[in-house]
Amino acid sequence: MAAAAFFFAWASGSGAQDDLLRRGEYIYRLAGCENCHTDRDNQGPRLAGGRALVTSLGTFYAPNITPDPNHGIGRWSEADFARALRAGVSPTGAHYYPAFPYTAYTLLSDEDVRALKAYLFAQPPVAQPNKPHVLPWYLRFRPALIVWKWLFFREGRYAPDPAKNAAWNRGAYLARAAAHCSECHTPRNVLGAPRRAYYLAGTTEGPDDGVVPNITPDRKTGIGRWSRSDLVQYLDTGMTPDGDFAGGLMAEFIDHGLKYLTAADREALATYILSVPAVEHAVRKQKKGGKKKDEFGF
Ligand code: HEC
Ligand code: HEC
Repeated sequence: MAAAAFFFAWASGSGAQDDLLRRGEYIYRLAGCENCHTDRDNQGPRLAGGRALVTSLGTFYAPNITPDPNHGIGRWSEADFARALRAGVSPTGAHYYPAFPYTAYTLLSDEDVRALKAYLFAQPPVAQPNKPHVLPWYLRFRPALIVWKWLFFREGRYAPDPAKNAAWNRGAYLARAAAHCSECHTPRNVLGAPRRAYYLAGTTEGPDDGVVPNITPDRKTGIGRWSRSDLVQYLDTGMTPDGDFAGGLMAEFIDHGLKYLTAADREALATYILSVPAVEHAVRKQKKGGKKKDEFGF
């Protein structure tokens, strides 16, 4: 009897652990943790950091987030991890630069944060030291981030909009808390904060100094001519309605993340994206030798 009870407890316990890891992996992919924290271009070990993130403010090197106790986050408690993602604060109280999109992850649910930590801690540790960021002197002073956060950052969980249905709310949660579409697709002001009136309206100064298209439903400058199934297909395979394929960071994000979404979640994401206000904002790269254009940019 005792043995059977023990076995039952063990079996259901490990089933719960498997569920947690699966949930963690799902959200990890969608959140793109690996894309920034792995130096893929130089065949760097997974999650051991070192990838250069080139922004208009300077170059950031994402750190090692493997469970290595010395070079990674192996000594972190669950509370340390939750605080980093939710509040953008390290276990020693240092403030993180918003190049780490905690501005989005703060909206994740407690269960998803817990699952993410469990998944990361189940990956192999790598003893690789972190590289310092390359920033102008006035950005090296981390306490200044307190002011930035006070101006532009609100900690909080995703609050469902009761006026919208469950699919819309699921899509909004996936887009805003995990997949951080706006981190790339929304233009920023001179202080590096997203410009709300241009939510998802594209930018010529995206990560890696790239052009990131307008994905609001504006017919002229956004994706207003795409049907719903065009968008769903793009988020699955990267193929646009014209038969082109996604390139650069979006291709990476689809290949390592969005294509693993369940069909229902991909539909939910499309429902949400197609519902955001249309903003007329032309950012497209002009074909052949033309120059970048952002008529509202700084
Ligand atoms: C857009 C790139 C990007 C993505 C996506 C990203 N990170 Fe990071 N992350 C960074 C950068 C850059 C830093 C360093 C911030 C700093 O030094 O202030 C960082 C820091 C961290 C830290 C702090 C590590 C330390 O040693 O203090 C943790 C933990 C972390 N990220 C976890 C995650 C997880 C988990 C995900 C996915 C849910 C994720 N990151 C997604 C860029 C990213
Ligand atoms: C890491 C940065 C990044 C993130 C995160 C990101 N995108 Fe993109 N996205 C891009 C870039 C860059 C392109 C342009 C790709 C190209 O040049 O082929 C793009 C292109 C697109 C396009 C094609 C638009 C067109 O007119 O061709 C759609 C649709 C899109 N993204 C939707 C999304 C959605 C929805 C999310 C969130 C679930 C998202 N993106 C998250 C960088 C990003």
